[in-house]
Amino acid sequence: MEKVIDENKQGETLVLEQKNTNTKKLFIESYGCAMNFSDSEIVASILNEQGYNTTQVLEEADLVLVNTCSIRDKAEQTIRKRLEKYNAVKRDVNPKMKVGVLGCMAERLKEQFLEQEKIVDLVVGPDAYKDLPNLLSEVEDGRDAINVILSKEETYGDISPVRLNSNGVTAFVSITRGCDNMCTFCVVPFTRGRERSREPQSILQEIQDLWDRGFKEVCLLGQNVDSYLWYGGGLKKDFDKASEMQKATSVEFAQLLEMCAIQFPKMRFRFSTSNPQDMHEEVLHVIAKYHNVCNYIHLPVQSGSTRILKEMNRQHTREEYMALVDKIKTIIPDCTISQDLIAGFPTETEEDHKETLSLMEYVQYDFGYMFSYSERPGTLAARKMEDDVPEEVKKRRLQEIVDLQQKISETRTKRFVGQIVEVLIEKESKKSKDEWSGKNSENVVTVFPKENFKVGEFVLVKIKDCTGATLKGEAVGYSELMN
Ligand code: SAH
Ligand code: F3S
Repeated sequence: MEKVIDENKQGETLVLEQKNTNTKKLFIESYGCAMNFSDSEIVASILNEQGYNTTQVLEEADLVLVNTCSIRDKAEQTIRKRLEKYNAVKRDVNPKMKVGVLGCMAERLKEQFLEQEKIVDLVVGPDAYKDLPNLLSEVEDGRDAINVILSKEETYGDISPVRLNSNGVTAFVSITRGCDNMCTFCVVPFTRGRERSREPQSILQEIQDLWDRGFKEVCLLGQNVDSYLWYGGGLKKDFDKASEMQKATSVEFAQLLEMCAIQFPKMRFRFSTSNPQDMHEEVLHVIAKYHNVCNYIHLPVQSGSTRILKEMNRQHTREEYMALVDKIKTIIPDCTISQDLIAGFPTETEEDHKETLSLMEYVQYDFGYMFSYSERPGTLAARKMEDDVPEEVKKRRLQEIVDLQQKISETRTKRFVGQIVEVLIEKESKKSKDEWSGKNSENVVTVFPKENFKVGEFVLVKIKDCTGATLKGEAVGYSELMN
């Protein structure tokens, strides 16, 4: 979600404040998208009430949970390796340890996990975390436990997640769960269920709690945030059946974003992920109007060829996507745009691939997340289409896409040199303990000498130089608008 898949975070073990009365130890590790990392915080909160404190030491854990990702085969392979590691620790060091699989792989493989991967005691899908206390008592009685039921309502809106490994400054807040889009390559609709939105009041309450604890930036999270629609509860697809009153008082994403921006004028807001087919112009006007809504849109495109987009069941053409980008650039001239792209979707020709490259040139993406197509069992593409682009062709096309993106990114980042940007200080720079690191509104990492500034402050930084994707500068003062 930052998008979504932050390679630096993969496999991060999460730790939270310790509760003195808790005696059991939970080791929880997360893979995949930001939604998974956010869900792990919900799980840790639920288990905190059940006597578990988190630990970073695998060997001493009573319970090991891995929050899993199914988006590509490689993600699943990484998790299988981790399961082997847990198995070894359980066998050699800590036989009483229980192991559970959470998230998308749990949902996709269900009982298969208990039957085939003998080491797993517990399998819990993304909508069943509130059932964890019951499932754990089954496990404690020596039985395997599984709940992979997908829900029409569950949004965990009533659970206040504990912030794990947090910098105390930026946090994710989930606003929708699931996805109804059925892109033909994607496993998410199968593993995360139907799309539902969380009640605005509970979102605003969570943001209030974060504000009270000193947080300064919130990223509103969903598989497709533009599709957010609250009309009193229920699935997005059932909106047609809602009463006139429900329809009249419904809240769409642009309204939610505006409510956040107005209610918390000194909190910065980002959101992810946008889907071109659902992005309304009103959202662009909200971004343009409010200083505290960041000038950054993650706008996955997947392919630059209309024919491939159709095969992928993306509900827009190349030209419609370009028109949306034109609109973004007119309404928010400074906006950063990033992409997701897939190389080698079934039937993709050299011609289609060239269209992807030319679309990238047209849009001038600031950065992107680029993947080679990985067939996922059960998806429409897997059932109806042959995975017919040879591996070496996929690899070469992906490399061409990555190289082009790198070239474009360099010129895009340079545009800030000489400018003054507003940076929220998040942490010490990795490269130097004398420098702070944070991001500007356009989501570009910026480092500068610490002087007397502190984490959590909004600072105006004059940009002197850039290396790769990082801006370097010097603070010229506090941001009056945000402090
Ligand atoms: N709407 C989601 C998309 C989740 S998947 C979001 O919040 O970002 C993230 C990205 O993974 C997709 O945009 C797509 O580019 C890529 N992806 C999904 N399924 C894939 C597959 N089968 N093979 C390769 N890449 C895939
Ligand atoms: Fe997947 Fe498409 Fe939804 S990529 S998450 S089905 S928008």
